[in-house]
Amino acid sequence: MSKIISGFSKLTKQEKIDWLTDNYFDKPIVAKETLQQYWNDHRVLQELHDDFIENTLSNFYFPFAIAPNFVINDKNYTLPMVVEESSVVAAASMVAKFWSSRGGFKTRIIATTKVGQVHFMYDGDAAGLQFYFNKMKPQLLRATEPITQNMRKRGGGIIDIELRNKTKELANYYQIHATFETKDSMGANFINSCLEAIANEFKRPDIEIVMSILSNYVPECLVRVEVGCLVEELYENNAELYANKFIQAIQIANVEPHRAVTHNKGIMNGIDALVLATGNDFRAVEAGVHAYASRDGQYRSLSNAAITDGIFKFWMEIPLALGTVGGLTKLHPLAKLSLELLQHPSAEELMQITATAGLAQNFAALRALTTTGIQKGHMKLHLNNIIKLLDATKKEKDFLIQYFENRTVTHNAVVEKYKEMRLK
Ligand code: MEV
Repeated sequence: MSKIISGFSKLTKQEKIDWLTDNYFDKPIVAKETLQQYWNDHRVLQELHDDFIENTLSNFYFPFAIAPNFVINDKNYTLPMVVEESSVVAAASMVAKFWSSRGGFKTRIIATTKVGQVHFMYDGDAAGLQFYFNKMKPQLLRATEPITQNMRKRGGGIIDIELRNKTKELANYYQIHATFETKDSMGANFINSCLEAIANEFKRPDIEIVMSILSNYVPECLVRVEVGCLVEELYENNAELYANKFIQAIQIANVEPHRAVTHNKGIMNGIDALVLATGNDFRAVEAGVHAYASRDGQYRSLSNAAITDGIFKFWMEIPLALGTVGGLTKLHPLAKLSLELLQHPSAEELMQITATAGLAQNFAALRALTTTGIQKGHMKLHLNNIIKLLDATKKEKDFLIQYFENRTVTHNAVVEKYKEMRLK
């Protein structure tokens, strides 16, 4: 049977499932059961999720966890984290506790400006275009007034619009570069609506509008997070040696992109977990953060560390365009719960909390990597996951954990040991 289908979106959910399982699976009944197990007992929730996107058949569950004991600007937080990777939450909790007795995390907002652009082509006199833009500017802003009305009441809106000549980079290419303050909303819909209204008002037969869209590169929507303590408070033994290794690890990530990507991935372990838990757009955050990490032309570490006069400081500045209203924040029950758990933060507070989660992960990773290595801790959790796939009794499980305490954990080795145990 051909797998190209027309009118798929018009089928009922059951018909979609039947089409899918009949066409793609050797055991359609098993596939059906796998899809339906998530909604059989949760119809109301499933129906809610069905409305988020098209062609929804089921739910894809991720673990929702919490990491307590974060102290951020002297306030106590328990962070909600949605992440599938073992050890991320354990690391966050460990680091939160560690820094809670060393002054906690200090954060501040550097800026909250977002950007959107109307990209267009114009094959004429640049000075004439600038004259037209200057003349039109009040009218362009007026065209957005019905859209910006509510945002202006909340203290946000369009900050400015300017004409940018990009013809040196691409023939005939210009843009209207607009800056926005979107307060507690991430602002994607607001920005895009404003831009489309501006483009519509600006267009002329000799101006070819290509597209109007927000930018997820937000280097001016920036938050800073830092921790600090005496070097000797950092490690029980050889504090100076290990503190220096920690700094070297960052220096390496600053000059070596292969390492920088993994280094920053560790930071994103914390950031994404918070972004997901609070119903924010993790793709937007990821794209913006990595662009920022290469802002001088080379991809580098997002975090920094230094020792001055015996004091260790570890910090990061990171762009985060987040929202605490709109989008999924009220619609997704767990996103809503996460925001309640965080005591209904403003977008600025959420930026600070999220950046903290990122720095905490980076601290855990660098501390482990430059001392014992990460595999010991990882493998413990990996072992648990492997054991879960086996039909092991509690006694067998305890035996396997003990057996692999000082042995290398591989999937094969665990399965072989399990089989051997069973034979006995
Ligand atoms: C694993 O998810 C993250 C780390 O690789 C980060 C790092 O290497 O810094 C441990």
